[in-house]
Amino acid sequence: MSKPLRLGVNIDHVATIRNARGSAYPDPLRAALLAEAAGADGITAHLREDRRHIRDADMAALKAGIGIPLNFEMAATAEMQEIALATRPHAVCLVPEKREERTTEGGLDVAGDEARLAAYVSPLRDAGARVSMFIGHDAAQIAASARIGAAVVELHTGHYCDLHYEGRFAERDAELAALREGAAYAHSLGLEVHAGHGLTFETVAPIAAIPEIRELNIGHFLIAEAVFIGLGPAIAEMRRLMDAARA
Ligand code: PXP
Repeated sequence: MSKPLRLGVNIDHVATIRNARGSAYPDPLRAALLAEAAGADGITAHLREDRRHIRDADMAALKAGIGIPLNFEMAATAEMQEIALATRPHAVCLVPEKREERTTEGGLDVAGDEARLAAYVSPLRDAGARVSMFIGHDAAQIAASARIGAAVVELHTGHYCDLHYEGRFAERDAELAALREGAAYAHSLGLEVHAGHGLTFETVAPIAAIPEIRELNIGHFLIAEAVFIGLGPAIAEMRRLMDAARA
């Protein structure tokens, strides 16, 4: 049997709903505590440059309030590095960020920015954060992530999920094969492998079955499903599907 697979629950979109009305509710910390009680292994939150969902105060409240690891997702900017060093999260995941995008659309170009990123991750590692690079499955990005001293690569599953929902199944299966190959290659370089973006009840099993993957980070679908069945049951069902795929 493969090693256990952790579930990181991304609670960004609880803050999206709150910010849509400028209200004080729903509280992302309350969602994080509920996720923890429902079996999440970690909480992920993305402090975007434009603060469209999670805000600085949310990140501090999460760090202080939860009993499971906090994964701080952020762009590789000086401002975010300073906040992360002050917050001292368990993990930092570096993601590309463009203001005009709706979500994180592609992976980070580690290979094209290697020297800067090597210098950027060094103080985060020294502060004890497990640094992760959110990248596509291509070998050049994986190898560059290992060279700059990242402990983890998180493989972007968004394209695989899009192809599934567009009914382009042959292309989806080719993308899945490439993700499998990327996971094996990253593992062979000593990197811990995570995956995430766009995962749902329908798409999670083939990703959860990739034996080198140790953690999935899932947000938007779980928060959306919470509207219908509640956050705890949505997380429990995701956990069940992950475990079944892994067995
Ligand atoms: N992993 C990373 C690095 C992300 O940027 C995101 C989205 O913020 C996720 C996982 C979760 O994606 P989703 O919200 O689509 O499940």
